[in-house]
Amino acid sequence: MELTPRLETIAQQVPQGSILADVGTDHALLPVWLLLEGRISNAIASDLREGPLSRAKETVEQHGVADQVSLRLCDGLSGIQAGEADVVAIAGMGGETIAAILEQAPWTKEDTLLLLQPMTSFPDLRKWLLDHGYTVEKETICREGSRMYTILTVRGGEDAPMTAAELWVGRNRPQPLRREYLAMMEGKVRRALEGQRASVNPDQPTVAHLEEVLNGLESMKKELEV
Ligand SMILES: C[S@@+](CC[C@H](N)C(=O)[O-])C[C@H]1O[C@@H](n2cnc3c(N)ncnc32)[C@H](O)[C@@H]1O
Repeated sequence: MELTPRLETIAQQVPQGSILADVGTDHALLPVWLLLEGRISNAIASDLREGPLSRAKETVEQHGVADQVSLRLCDGLSGIQAGEADVVAIAGMGGETIAAILEQAPWTKEDTLLLLQPMTSFPDLRKWLLDHGYTVEKETICREGSRMYTILTVRGGEDAPMTAAELWVGRNRPQPLRREYLAMMEGKVRRALEGQRASVNPDQPTVAHLEEVLNGLESMKKELEV
């Protein structure tokens, strides 16, 4: 069984011997791969919908790990109790959905490693985490085909405030794909800014915000050149 680069990057962040809860598991590829590798001892694989959960059941049975995976049909972490897992992965969902899931499970601030891989709303998710007593310990960028993803390693705890640019792209810690990631995100912000400027009634606070983000991204690129 092979994982895609995105799921493999998440898997690499899971410490040996953990109990993993994979929220929004779909095919349960992440927990099953970790079990087959002997990296984790048990897993909870949950999903909001019956279709994905039945796909998860198929994968689990096909690979003979049914006795190590608890399958749960539930919204977010509502069917998972504090203390049942020490690592929680929430991947492949919008940042706002991830925040909404964590909002309902404040126990994740205690002794829980969170691996979050948002597809959208990155600034909103980072801001929500900082405002709600979480700290972003690390971000790991990966590439899959033409797309790039960032995986946030998060725990409960106070974090320093982030600038507007940091909310968009995370703190500027050097790593192999960082420059490429900054360039890709800069393109996104520029397109948003051009869209605003081209509109009949540009929203001035949004324009000012996007300009601030672009300036911050420029500084980050320079920092990495040193
Ligand atoms: C795009 S798939 C991602 C699957 C896998 N986590 C991955 O990263 O490859 C998103 C999955 O999240 C599930 N999902 C969406 N909202 C959810 C929620 N509030 N609680 C649990 N699962 C949810 C969907 O049903 C779907 O199976």
